[in-house]
Amino acid sequence: MSAEHESGPTAAKQEIAPAKGKLGVMVVGLGAVATTMIAGVEAVRRGLAKPIGSLTQMGTIRLGKRTENKVPYVKDFVPLANLNDLVFTGWDIFEDNVYESAAHAAVLDKETLLALKPYLETIKPLPAVFDQHYVKRLHGTHVKKGKNKRDLADQLIEDIRNFKKTVDRVVMIWCGSTEIFLEPTAVHESIETFEKGLETSDIGIAPSQIYAYAALKEGVPFANGAPNLTVDTKALIELSKQNAAPICGKDFKTGQTFMKTVLAPAFKARHLGVRGWFSTNILGNRDGEVLDDPQSFKTKEESKLGSLEYIFQPELYPDLYKDLYHKIRINYYPPRGDDKEAWDNIDIFGWLGYPMQIKVNFLCRDSILAAPIALDLVLFLDLAKRTPGLRSIGIQEWLSFYLKAPQTAAGLYPEHDLFIQSMKLKNTLRHIMGESLITHLGLEYYD
Ligand SMILES: NC(=O)c1ccc[n+]([C@@H]2O[C@H](COP(=O)([O-])OP(=O)(O)OC[C@H]3O[C@@H](n4cnc5c(N)ncnc54)[C@H](O)[C@@H]3O)[C@@H](O)[C@H]2O)c1
Repeated sequence: MSAEHESGPTAAKQEIAPAKGKLGVMVVGLGAVATTMIAGVEAVRRGLAKPIGSLTQMGTIRLGKRTENKVPYVKDFVPLANLNDLVFTGWDIFEDNVYESAAHAAVLDKETLLALKPYLETIKPLPAVFDQHYVKRLHGTHVKKGKNKRDLADQLIEDIRNFKKTVDRVVMIWCGSTEIFLEPTAVHESIETFEKGLETSDIGIAPSQIYAYAALKEGVPFANGAPNLTVDTKALIELSKQNAAPICGKDFKTGQTFMKTVLAPAFKARHLGVRGWFSTNILGNRDGEVLDDPQSFKTKEESKLGSLEYIFQPELYPDLYKDLYHKIRINYYPPRGDDKEAWDNIDIFGWLGYPMQIKVNFLCRDSILAAPIALDLVLFLDLAKRTPGLRSIGIQEWLSFYLKAPQTAAGLYPEHDLFIQSMKLKNTLRHIMGESLITHLGLEYYD
């Protein structure tokens, strides 16, 4: 028998606290994605539909050797919260309850929404922390007032504490609008400078950071579904570690970037060159309206641009990718609502430099793709919080699988390749459960 195994090293099983009782989910922004997730969870709980697209609900995980045939469901393998134990609440700048907001988003059909109406109507948003400076296209009416940003953070902390009284554990997820492009400044250097900045209402602190601060201060895990800077700062990473409140971000990887991070690794694996990649989108939902503002678009553009650069590594493969021209366009086009259409034109070249083209036309539904991602992030962050080896490490890089611009430790480049991300996620689950990692070596079968 050779020393190498298809399954690699095994660590000791960790003492993961059980998922007992109710998991409270605090959602910032009860718009299209959030209401599609909440209504979807309720539809699944009632047996009206299946949780398609959710790895935690539909996925399996192979354990041990291929000959062992051990393939449990992910949700039976790791102690995740049961969907029946999820309790939702949230904040929005509009007063609409989740039924009204879902009807406005028009993602789910009327019949489904009517069946769920009595439940959805009970979820009413708390007044939000909002400032139009950071999202130009929205005019909020249901917003908190405070003498400075510290006061607003305290009001959010109060909301969290009140909710905590009704559930056993809490996770927060940002499903709010995309804020203007911000870069870290001196105020984000440390917890101390950040807290001073809250007192002086520093302009570098966006509303999403006030929510994140409140969550982390309370030891509540925080996921960022938008491309905003939010928790991608030294101060909030430090706070996440200090208070054992896991974080991950940013920007749900749903349509076009999802396809990109599947196709680009394939070209790279075959050493095919890429000269140009032109991506354009039309969408007509509120997200599209917000992204019509150049400053919010810039935030999204930065988040979408990174994936190819990291996957192709032009510095290692100059002959193949040095001259790649990558362009992204998002056009607000109201008639389409949430039914986004994306086109990609990819100019590739092969043997001896001969050119070829690939066209991808993805007629997707934005929030239908995003909802299961939001759900999985909530469930996995709650798992991370209960897992000794994960709860105090801050950034949960193993959740990159779900994100367009994955957060990583300082100095590390992000892994964008969907299949590397999938392996990283599953190996993390094996690792915390004391199962062998899967290396795919497999020489032992040929001894
Ligand atoms: N749908 C997707 O496929 C997808 C993919 C990746 C990322 N995203 C991001 O997810 C976010 C949500 O997308 P959506 O389609 O649900 O948008 P949406 O416009 O339907 O919902 C956003 C909601 O957030 C609210 N909001 C804005 N600022 C807020 C604040 N400070 N506090 C509380 N609420 C606030 C808005 O009123 C709105 O109801 C966006 O940032 C979007 O870019 C969406």
